[in-house]
Amino acid sequence: MTAPSLGPLLSVRGLRKVFADDVVAVDNLTFDLSQGESLAIVGESGSGKTTTARIIAGLDSATAGDVLLDGRPMAGTGRRRRRDVQMVFQDPFGSLDPRQKVGAAIAELLAVHFRLSKAERRSRVAGLLDEVGLDERHASEYPRNLSGGQRQRVAIARALALEPRLLILDEAVAALDVSVQAQVLNLLIDLRDRRDISYLFVSHDLAVVRQISDRCLVMCAGALVEQGETRDVLDNPRESYTRQLLDAVPRPGWIPRRRQAGTPS
Ligand SMILES: Nc1ncnc2c1ncn2[C@@H]1O[C@H](COP(=O)(O)OP(=O)(O)OP(=O)(O)O)[C@@H](O)[C@H]1O
Ligand SMILES: [Mg+2]
Repeated sequence: MTAPSLGPLLSVRGLRKVFADDVVAVDNLTFDLSQGESLAIVGESGSGKTTTARIIAGLDSATAGDVLLDGRPMAGTGRRRRRDVQMVFQDPFGSLDPRQKVGAAIAELLAVHFRLSKAERRSRVAGLLDEVGLDERHASEYPRNLSGGQRQRVAIARALALEPRLLILDEAVAALDVSVQAQVLNLLIDLRDRRDISYLFVSHDLAVVRQISDRCLVMCAGALVEQGETRDVLDNPRESYTRQLLDAVPRPGWIPRRRQAGTPS
């Protein structure tokens, strides 16, 4: 076995995804993410952000290109390496079993992935809930009895249970009220300080991106338009597409420009 490399944690190389109906969702996308870094992906609706995130998380396959973790291909790797990348979605209902109490769901996940005694498992569940600002009361609730913010905290606890090195958050705070959103963002910032974890943060909300990410990528029609330090990109965008994206933010009723690479209009 080779020692952990000093290179990036995640390398995406020439990633391409073409869906069955010839939609080029991701078009030759290449970028790196360093250990401990928080990288945001922004871009209009349909620009390929979720598709990219899902492929990196192993939930979808690429048409071409590579996703490397520590310089080694992710494709076809075992459970240990799959655990390294976890994803939190906008809608936590999708990943929570409505018939299972929150604590039991986390315990079950731990049982699948780790060899722990019942007592160890119980204490690990308590620790995870505590880490996301919840307690035993929440552990004995069903997801439907929790608030949206609490449910998203549960989803984060479940992801953390697998001790990932990379957490992908796809519009993970988009459905929350502004004040709850701020609390969950603060939680994510704290977690990053406490754990050696990196974020890939997909969001259409540039205020959120500014708060949470060190660097950001701008995607348009599946391709990378520009990337850089978040503040530089948002304050001094080099590309006109990024300027349009920034200009579009405060205007209600903005209709995203629909563009598909190579699609005749
Ligand atoms: N399962 C699928 N089958 C066919 N086409 C798909 C599928 N998933 C996504 N697409 C298409 O791929 C393109 C990129 O979609 P994607 O969901 O990655 O965009 P996004 O940037 O996440 O958008 P949003 O901001 O609205 O979430 C879109 O044209 C979309 O219609
Ligand atoms: Mg999306």
